[in-house]
Amino acid sequence: MKSYFGTLADGAEVSSWSLENGGTRLTVLDYGGIVQSLEIPDRHGRYANVSLGFGSVEEYVAGSPYFGALIGRFGNRIADGRFTLDGESHQLPRNDGAHSLHGGPEGFDRRLWQVEPFTEGPDVGLRLRLTSPDGDMGYPGTLQVRVTYTLTGGGDWRIDYEATTDRATVVNLTSHVYWNLAGEGSGSVHDHELEIAASRYLPVDAGLIPVGEPADVAGTPFDFRTAKPVGRDLRVAHEQSLHSKGVDHNYVLDKGLTARPEPAAVLRDPASGRTLTIATTEPGLQFYSGNFLDGSLVGAGGRTYRQGDALCLETQHYPDSPNRPEFPSTVLRPGQTYRTTTVHSFGV
Ligand code: BGC
Repeated sequence: MKSYFGTLADGAEVSSWSLENGGTRLTVLDYGGIVQSLEIPDRHGRYANVSLGFGSVEEYVAGSPYFGALIGRFGNRIADGRFTLDGESHQLPRNDGAHSLHGGPEGFDRRLWQVEPFTEGPDVGLRLRLTSPDGDMGYPGTLQVRVTYTLTGGGDWRIDYEATTDRATVVNLTSHVYWNLAGEGSGSVHDHELEIAASRYLPVDAGLIPVGEPADVAGTPFDFRTAKPVGRDLRVAHEQSLHSKGVDHNYVLDKGLTARPEPAAVLRDPASGRTLTIATTEPGLQFYSGNFLDGSLVGAGGRTYRQGDALCLETQHYPDSPNRPEFPSTVLRPGQTYRTTTVHSFGV
C-alpha cells in the first residue's frame, strides 16, 4: 500500500499510498497530499484514472498547476496579498500577478505531510498532518492541520479538514483535483454535463478578484442550475468569460454554509456513464474550466493536457474573504477548531 515515489532536491523521500474500497482506487502522495490517481469504473466496469496528474515527483516540483493537491493556508486569491486582522496588517508573497493565490509560492501543495493509514469499520483512509509555523507564507499563527482522506465502504472519497491555531489567523483549505471522467489525457471535458446548485456567482475583475455583490446566474453562461454540457456556453462573449478565458468563478451555493455536507454539484460523462456528486459543508464552489492548460504539460498517461481537458470543482469559502467582511468569515482563533467536510460520490 505504501511505496517509494521519488526524492526531493533536499534528499527527502516522497511516498505514494494506494487504497481501494467500494470500487474506488486512490493513490495519494505525502508530497502536497496530492491525489496522484483516482480510478473508478465506467458502466462496463472498465477502470480509468479520472484525475489529472504526473508520473514523477520532479514534474510536480517543476511546475504543477496544483494537480490533485491540498491547498492551504488559503485557497483562491487574496487581493494584493494583503489583509488586516485585529488591526494588524499582513503582507503575503504575491504569486499571481499582484495577488496571493492558493497559499503562496510554497503553499501546502509543496509540503511533505505526515501520513498514517487507518481502517475503521467499513472505511479505509489516510490521516495527513502538517504543522505550518507562525509567519509561514506571511500568515500569522502556528497552524496545526489535519486532513483525513476516507474511502468509504460505498466507494465515496470523503475529505475532512481540521485546523487549530495559537494566534488569530485566516484559513481556507481545499482540494485541487482536475476531473476528467472519461479518463485523464482522453481529451476535452466539454461534453461532460455539469449541474451546480447555485443561483448566484461572484463576478470578478481582470485579476479574478470578486467585485461588487453576488450576481444572478440567470441569463448568463454561468447558469448551471440545470445540468448542461460544460462547453455549451464557454464561447459566449460575456464580459466575465473574457476575464477568465472560460469559467473561473466562485459559486455562492444556495444551501449556504452547513453543518453537514449537502449537495453542491453533479458532473456526468455521458459517454462512459461515470458520475461525480460533490456534497460539502462549505458555502462556495470554485468552478474552473481548465482554461490555462495549454498543451505544455504531459500527464501520467503520456498525453499532453490542453485547454478544457479537465475541470476543477473546489469547495471553499469565497475568494478574498479576509478583505470582505460581508462574506462568511475565514478567521480562526485560538481555542476554535476549523472543520469542513467534502464528499465525492461516484456512480455510473
Ligand atoms: C484558480 C485558477 C488557477 C488554477 C490553477 C484555480 O483554483 O481559480 O485561476 O489558474 O487554480 O492555478
